[in-house]
Amino acid sequence: MENMKKELLFPRDAIQTRVQELAAQISADYQGRELIIVGILKGAFIFMADLIRAMCIPCKIDFVRAASYGTGAESSGKVVLTKDLETSIKDKDILVVEDIIDTGLTLKYLVAWLQERNPKSLKVCAFLDKRKRRKVHFEADYVGFTMDDGFVVGYGLDFNEQSRFLPEVYIIKQE
Ligand code: PRP
Repeated sequence: MENMKKELLFPRDAIQTRVQELAAQISADYQGRELIIVGILKGAFIFMADLIRAMCIPCKIDFVRAASYGTGAESSGKVVLTKDLETSIKDKDILVVEDIIDTGLTLKYLVAWLQERNPKSLKVCAFLDKRKRRKVHFEADYVGFTMDDGFVVGYGLDFNEQSRFLPEVYIIKQE
């Protein structure tokens, strides 16, 4: 990160406002239903924590761990699952929460894998949708922000495991 310049992309206020909007929409859509939110580790943990605390309906939570990037900024293109669910999702309403959709490979793989467990419904909420780099078609049901390209850190997103803790989202550029 030493030779990297950070440029602010989404400030804290804009993120929190958007998270409140998403939470209101999800709360309305799932009113009276038994919702299980499945977070994809590690990147989704901060977004998921803010989202569920802004919602006004109850939910249960679980996590899976998927990794596709290896290290650095380029996707390896291979999805590896290293942590399974601990809850049965059969006949339940499932909302998958993810920090970013990039090539689409992670979510395409995970959604197919979760569908095999026969949930009643399955939707996806992504904090960021980086649309330009798709390798497979994938559309989320709820999206916080869209962006074209650029490598982003903060609000759970990392570069080589750094900068996840930042409350804002930055684009990083090589100097
Ligand atoms: C990132 C991100 C998504 C995935 C998106 O995960 O959290 O899960 O890549 O990329 P894709 O659409 O190209 O598949 P990463 O593998 O970096 O793991 P992390 O969540 O632990 O940071």
